[in-house]
Amino acid sequence: MAEKITVSVLREKKAQGLKITMVTAYDYPSARMVEEAGLDMILVGDSLGNAVLGYENTLPVTMDEMVHHTRAVCRGTRHTFVVADLPFLSYHVSVEQAILNAGRLVKEGGAQAVKLEGGKERLEVIKRIIAAEIPVMGHLGLTPQSIHQFGGFKVQGKNKEQAEKLLADALLLEEAGVFALVLECVPAPLAAMITEKLSIPTIGIGAGAGCDGQVLVWHDLLGITQDLKPRFVKNYAHLHDDITGALKQYKAEVEKGQFPAAEHSYTMKEEEIPRLY
Ligand code: KIV
Repeated sequence: MAEKITVSVLREKKAQGLKITMVTAYDYPSARMVEEAGLDMILVGDSLGNAVLGYENTLPVTMDEMVHHTRAVCRGTRHTFVVADLPFLSYHVSVEQAILNAGRLVKEGGAQAVKLEGGKERLEVIKRIIAAEIPVMGHLGLTPQSIHQFGGFKVQGKNKEQAEKLLADALLLEEAGVFALVLECVPAPLAAMITEKLSIPTIGIGAGAGCDGQVLVWHDLLGITQDLKPRFVKNYAHLHDDITGALKQYKAEVEKGQFPAAEHSYTMKEEEIPRLY
């Protein structure tokens, strides 16, 4: 039987040099498929906003939306470790609010941990959420909730000063108690160096092969997204084409009267048919 993934299993994987696998998911059937495929972790990311809900970015995502989708994912998992994102402004206003919101993702959503973005400026909040017995995953580099501060989706840590700040933040997060750290869109040599210096696992997205694990967004991995494809995305399937192809075939068959065929229809006793008219 597959092992239940826990924070200590993830730590042990890093210690043994075993790679950690993570993908985002936002609903029950996807969670069931991740579980069947045996990945270690699911992130119910606030990428929910752009990937599923049709928002322009992650900023409009609400706590209620995150709880709703986290619940659906958790109903589909038994062994996979589920991390849910705290959305924009759910942990920025006060520590109390941050603890209550993190608690909702665990208590109502069923997640095993929460993720939040940012470094030094988030230490107090992170420590207090952990003190409330909720494991926290950090997220540094290109943090999409800071998109307006960054002025766009840009690789972070490209020069010595930025790289030093990233490393310092990573060490502070580790000291504050995060159990793992997402590094998004940072140069591969920097991510590898940070990974070496930390005892907690790093999970990269656009951060090269030197991280302890990798995460990709469901729709990118499966080729559902048709938007501009960032360099770090690899499509392991082309579901956009498969799905639109299937829909076109269904439309054509219905219009031509080819579907449903006899094998898709129910029958009744012959003698009952005249009685219908
Ligand atoms: O929301 C998300 O999907 C994320 C990943 C890109 C790491 O935060």
